Amino acid sequence: MAQVVMTLVGALRHVRMVPKMSDFENRNEHISSSDEFEIAQGAFVIRNCATEHAPLLLTLVDSIVQLAPLRHVVTPGGKAMSVEMTNCGTFGWVSDRQGYRYEKIDPTTGKPWPSMPSEFVDFAARAASKAGYSGFSPDVCLINRYAPGASMGMHQDRDECDFRQPIVSVSLGLSIRFRMGGRHRGGKTTSVMLHHGDVVVLGGSSRLAFHGVGVLQDGFHPLTGHSRFNLTFRRAF
Ligand code: SIN
Ligand code: FE2
Repeated sequence: MAQVVMTLVGALRHVRMVPKMSDFENRNEHISSSDEFEIAQGAFVIRNCATEHAPLLLTLVDSIVQLAPLRHVVTPGGKAMSVEMTNCGTFGWVSDRQGYRYEKIDPTTGKPWPSMPSEFVDFAARAASKAGYSGFSPDVCLINRYAPGASMGMHQDRDECDFRQPIVSVSLGLSIRFRMGGRHRGGKTTSVMLHHGDVVVLGGSSRLAFHGVGVLQDGFHPLTGHSRFNLTFRRAF
């Protein structure tokens, strides 16, 4: 983990991309503290929801990565994904030539995934309830690490059993552009920059919405260095 360099925090504000008029970024440009808004029906961005918890969340990520290393998985089509992934929880999301699915055993280590820290469970439940989804209890946390140049194409999160359960997605480190579409691939999208500490909750009629993130631009964040982490909490079973 990179050292905390507070003087860089101010400079980081200037590396944000220039907002477009259609972006929610524009609407929220003047709001820097905690703020919540709906980007699509049932989908919420909660600014700074994780900011104060970030050092602890990242320390816990470090210890998970010691047990279940980050790796580039391949898609069923045989292409290596640009993000590095690992998981904690009862299950982990995996992908290989056989497809996308949840597995109890980490295929890299041959062992169960590291258990999900109670701080993760509590944080995800609180974030979900802030967005109006009470009683969320994740059994998977997918951890994605983006290095500069990495991105995540438009996709649906649909390998879970119960789509009434929301998805809670936490952004840590460098900022990235998040794109939100509808239930069908190729439709109109809206976009918003996600910054360190922001949380996205996908639920209700947006639970199966297509979404993705753009290419991570290089930069430096005092807590994550030249990278971005995304923690995605799900209820798989
Ligand atoms: C995802 O939807 O799987 C990741 C989104 C993100 O990195 O913010
Ligand atoms: Fe996703």
